[in-house]
Amino acid sequence: MNEQQIALGAKYLREGRLVAFPTETVYGLGANAFDATAVNRIFLAKGRPADNPLIVHIADYATLPQVVGRVSPEAERLMRAFWPGPLSIVLPRNRQIPDIVTAGLDTVAVRWPNHPVATALIRQAGVPVAAPSANRSGRPSPTLAQHVAEDLGEQVDLILDAGQAAIGLESTVVDLSADKPILLRPGAVTVEDLEQILGAVEIASTRPTPGQPVRSPGMKYTHYAPRAPLYLYLGEPDAVVQAQGARRRELEGEGKRVGILTYDEFRHAFPDSGTLSLGRYNRPSEAAQSLYQLLRRFDEQNVDVILAHGYPSAAGLGLALQNRLLKAAGYRLLWV
Ligand code: TXA
Ligand code: MG
Repeated sequence: MNEQQIALGAKYLREGRLVAFPTETVYGLGANAFDATAVNRIFLAKGRPADNPLIVHIADYATLPQVVGRVSPEAERLMRAFWPGPLSIVLPRNRQIPDIVTAGLDTVAVRWPNHPVATALIRQAGVPVAAPSANRSGRPSPTLAQHVAEDLGEQVDLILDAGQAAIGLESTVVDLSADKPILLRPGAVTVEDLEQILGAVEIASTRPTPGQPVRSPGMKYTHYAPRAPLYLYLGEPDAVVQAQGARRRELEGEGKRVGILTYDEFRHAFPDSGTLSLGRYNRPSEAAQSLYQLLRRFDEQNVDVILAHGYPSAAGLGLALQNRLLKAAGYRLLWV
């Protein structure tokens, strides 16, 4: 990564082209947020439904009033505490932001990412940058530049490669546009972190319920999913390992290729190449960093079924991990 590439990316953004760039969470697919035609190209490139709004990225406070309306004292406290960082805040929108960015909502999600390449790119472009994760819609978010190239190929004009994303899961999304704060998507800024600043935070149900209004449009789509069906096993670790082993033998008996997702401590129970490890058990940052990359690897291995050991704790970053695993599983859960 060099200065010329960032400068070229900034020029491309001003010209209405698409630039994929690294952030601390996952890679984003950026366009000038004021340019409706460019933003439309994001939706086309990703195959993204038009009713799923984008996050607008900034890299200074001077740009904020061009994106949002009034900033409440709570919102300001969150920004001071967690920006730049993995937190997107939903606020009333500024009308200058085109409808296509917000999917017609009167709110907009805004974030200041904590990555030197992202912030240099946004500042040099001189405009706020609308950017979803740079995967094809429905695929796991990209944590490496190579994932972006695999998913989007020629549809992206430039990919800025800065190696592996540090966090590996998308930003926390918190809605401050209503009376009380609502967590729409858990991430590396944890509920515990938010509650230190805001007091109690309501957690939106992650599973769409028929007949219930959807708070975050993104929640109603299958997300983060590998191609093979993934079954999530929950329970005491030994029982989970046993159940995964028993089910694998059955499936292999039917001639199926089985992928096992586990942790370093239990790897010895599945000694073959179809087994991938999320790192050490109960180390959320290790699992977060590797999860999406491993889901993609199962795709490459062409497995028919994935049997995954669930994440043991909902504390801290664990909540985000459980949320992404549940989505990858399409809510196929087995308690053992
Ligand atoms: O870490 C991240 O947030 C990455 C990097 C590139 O910044 N971006 C990302 O964007 O994950 P995307 O588009 O994949 O996810 C944005 C989520 C979606 O679930 C969307 O529905 C929600 O934020 N969202 C965006 N604007 C919203 C709004 N005005 N109200 C409610 N939810 C919104
Ligand atoms: Mg996404």
